[in-house]
Amino acid sequence: MSLFSGKAVSLWGIGMHVPERILTNQELEQMVDTSNEWILERTGIRERHIVAPEKQTSDLAVEAGRIALERAGLAPEELDMVIVATNSPDTIFPCTAAKVQGKLGAKKAGAFDVQSGCTGCVYALTVAVSGIAAGVWRHVLVIGAEALSRLINWQDRNTCVLFGDGAGACVLGPRREGDGRFIAASLRADGTKHDLISLPAGGSERPASKETLEEGAHFVHMKGNEVFKFVNRELPPFLQSFCESSGVEPGHVDWWIFHQANWRIMDGILRRFGVSPERAVVNLDRYGNTSAASVFLALCEALDDGRIRKGQKMVINSFGAGMTYGAILLEV
Ligand code: COA
Repeated sequence: MSLFSGKAVSLWGIGMHVPERILTNQELEQMVDTSNEWILERTGIRERHIVAPEKQTSDLAVEAGRIALERAGLAPEELDMVIVATNSPDTIFPCTAAKVQGKLGAKKAGAFDVQSGCTGCVYALTVAVSGIAAGVWRHVLVIGAEALSRLINWQDRNTCVLFGDGAGACVLGPRREGDGRFIAASLRADGTKHDLISLPAGGSERPASKETLEEGAHFVHMKGNEVFKFVNRELPPFLQSFCESSGVEPGHVDWWIFHQANWRIMDGILRRFGVSPERAVVNLDRYGNTSAASVFLALCEALDDGRIRKGQKMVINSFGAGMTYGAILLEV
């Protein structure tokens, strides 16, 4: 079963924030043995934004959160919960969400982080919708925020060309007159593949030591091609069965909001479904893979520029470290 039951929940407001500094493929050519052509052809990425040295993930999250709250017409004090999906928290603890709650002045809200790879945003949205639908919370702020550039080895061409920094935020609340609603969600994982994307050191398994520093074990490690194969194998049948159990044909979905990791992955899925590439919202060319922020940035831009119109349905889906994956069917 993937359909939400209980109180209907809708998207009240959305916002995003990316740092000013843009890092182009041409600049990366000066840093590692790569080329603009290789990056563009293999991924679709042209440039990405990089967080300023004095800013943290929580700062990006707060900026996006403020915009989403303003657009939702909600004061921070009216929030019941702040959830931040991130893989680059300011610190292992306290959670980034608590800092965001404090900076926003969301005095009556609880706060927690969701750390589930790039799928964290889909997991966080699902938890938020479920909490409101069940009547536990009324207003929830869900933020996907990353300063992943801090955890990347800028000498490793396998990873440094892919990721970017940024934050996207959604305010959720009970459905109001004229609103759409969150219709269904499905969350999956294959934990036997936990070694495909990882940050091996700095946790309790391998605490920081001289050795871990020398090995560069505090940076993101990724078996890129194995991730690519896993996603191409697992995602299409998962999305097909998600659509079936949610009562919608893939061909009748108005918009596909994919995790912005690689255009070849998005294109491959759309081809298998016989869906036009124009049905996908794509902005990875300008932001790269912003991990747990990525689908929120795509959704925000497409709502802001009027591509997505009231009453349209979209499948928001993501995959990432774990390996985790998941999808949400939303009508705006
Ligand atoms: N520039 C130039 N060459 C590069 C390179 C770079 N930045 N990175 C890797 N290469 C090289 C490899 O060393 C390899 O060379 P070889 O054939 O001499 O061994 C060659 O390019 C092909 O590597 P491969 O890993 O097979 O390429 P690919 O087609 O799988 O593309 C990715 C690599 C990373 C773009 C692709 O696998 C991918 O997008 N995977 C998913 C990653 C992802 O989404 N991660 C985040 C999940 S949330």
